[in-house]
Amino acid sequence: MKKEKVLIMGACGQIGVELTLALRKLYGADNVIASDIREAQHPLLEGTGPYYTLNAMDAAATLALIKKENITQVYLLAALLSATGEKDPKRAWDINMQSLLQVLDIAVQEKLTKVYWPSSIAVFGTTTPKQDTPQKTIIEPRTVYGISKYAGELWCQYYNQRWGLDVRSLRYPGLISWKSEPGGGTTDYAVEIYHEALKHGKYTSFLSEGTYLPMMYMDDAIRATIELMEAPEEKIKSRMAYNLSAMSFSPKEIAEAIRKHIPGFQIDYAPDFRQQIADGWPQSIDDSAARADWGWKHEFDLEKMTADMLLHLKEQLQTV
Ligand code: SER
Repeated sequence: MKKEKVLIMGACGQIGVELTLALRKLYGADNVIASDIREAQHPLLEGTGPYYTLNAMDAAATLALIKKENITQVYLLAALLSATGEKDPKRAWDINMQSLLQVLDIAVQEKLTKVYWPSSIAVFGTTTPKQDTPQKTIIEPRTVYGISKYAGELWCQYYNQRWGLDVRSLRYPGLISWKSEPGGGTTDYAVEIYHEALKHGKYTSFLSEGTYLPMMYMDDAIRATIELMEAPEEKIKSRMAYNLSAMSFSPKEIAEAIRKHIPGFQIDYAPDFRQQIADGWPQSIDDSAARADWGWKHEFDLEKMTADMLLHLKEQLQTV
């Protein structure tokens, strides 16, 4: 059997940092090559394994690195997210699409064994059922990020059907993490709120108090990604991205969960342009296909995540 060697593109982002660390533990540090457009790698990756500066838009450099390192699998995580994307839609489209199509072409050409590319709840829009959104439903995304994710899902499916490429994908909900910072999403409030609660005891939310969104703790998201990628090929029945779910809450509810640990914590609300993005997304997700096909099961709910986030962020604050 061919020895697997992984390239992670966008390794310094919110998912990339933790995925790189997890895959290095699993496959050995030297078998997981981290890359990102940033010159300097994320502090948490330093000393943990090989790192290259790589622009995901540079097809020639990507191909050269894949050949040089004898890469067999690519995780393409580089992207502009929903809020950043709305500020410069064409740029978001170019970055999100061009990088994907290049990687898919290289994967076919170099006969890579697997490709991972993340999708998002942002594929859904106002015409989608808001509760328990099914795997297959009306999909009319309203943000450029969502449009690029939906188009990308179709491309992944196309490359699988046309070229037999083993490309896999998940529709992540909002991701909450303490090791790495989120980057320009509409769900970022659910990370900021923990930092502000510990530092200042109060937070102004850019989403209104009753805005429910599907969310997931990063530990679950990383495990889901690895479990999907390790599942035998015959279990992967959807080559569009799988719905993935863990919990749903509103700013008011996360504030209440925080108040159990920090009793005086205060929240107020000043919705901005991100409110409209959030209003177009589902409130909860039906991920029964992921559960049935490859055995997905989440571990963290709001209470468990809040306790873990506050514990780790408190430690982090004390050491800086
Ligand atoms: N967390 C992402 C965003 O808010 C959703 O995929 O853009």
